[in-house]
Amino acid sequence: MQSVTEIKSLRSQIKAWRQQGLTIAFVPTMGNLHYGHFSLVERAKTLADKVVVSIFVNPMQFGASEDLDSYPRTLTEDKQGLAELETDLVFTPSVDTIYPNGLAAQSYVDVPEISLGYCGGSRPGHFKGVATVVTKLFNMVQPDIACFGEKDYQQLQVIKTMVRDLSMPIEIVGVPTKREASGLAMSSRNGYLSAQEKSTAKVLFNTLNDAVSHLQSGNTEFTQIEEQAKQTLIEHGLKPDYFNIANAQTLRPANQNDKQLVILAAAFLGKVRLIDNMQVTL
Ligand code: PAF
Repeated sequence: MQSVTEIKSLRSQIKAWRQQGLTIAFVPTMGNLHYGHFSLVERAKTLADKVVVSIFVNPMQFGASEDLDSYPRTLTEDKQGLAELETDLVFTPSVDTIYPNGLAAQSYVDVPEISLGYCGGSRPGHFKGVATVVTKLFNMVQPDIACFGEKDYQQLQVIKTMVRDLSMPIEIVGVPTKREASGLAMSSRNGYLSAQEKSTAKVLFNTLNDAVSHLQSGNTEFTQIEEQAKQTLIEHGLKPDYFNIANAQTLRPANQNDKQLVILAAAFLGKVRLIDNMQVTL
């Protein structure tokens, strides 16, 4: 596996592969890789000749009071895992390489409407940071295909919208969420949870499942299902941020005619903010 930190070296390898007529799949990450990330790499390997993974903890997508400084950084283990999967190239740029003129002077990409609400509502500026760094990374790697986890469902829809709106010639592939045996969605932030909290955290998964059952049994009292779910979370010691049933493509609140739905949820457990979602076809 090649390990590259500079844009120039990345571009020259990409150019060489392109000259050989090879296709490229890309998996952007912020590191602290777990099986959820590795499943993205495994999927990417089935989709193109070469797989590039980036590891970059992107300061632009963190709010001032968020966990940028304490975000887990495990570069040695991450590279080892990627090498075992026979990843072709890992790109690990520094903050100065990505933002040489600082964040305040940085041009940005803003994806309207779909970035508002849910995580975008609770984390102002978050999706602007995500869309900007993903655009920059896409311009550096120039992949044919890029894989993103469905765990960050709104992020996946923001990226799909951006690629469509800005005519980027890249196919975006969503990869299903990987879960612990308890059902808890795998996340780098799960490392912040104590054993006791991990056992509480699975309530989010169970509550989503209950809401899926309500929808599948024909209950379309969306607000009532949402309120009941939030009450369940509170009773188990979680602090709901949002729990909403939405149209799976537009993320607008679900209406009676929608057939493809997604239930989007975020809840605090102590200081840790858990997110999860489930798609439902009626
Ligand atoms: O999902 C993530 O890890 C990040 O938001 C991403 C897509 C790598 C952009 O920094």
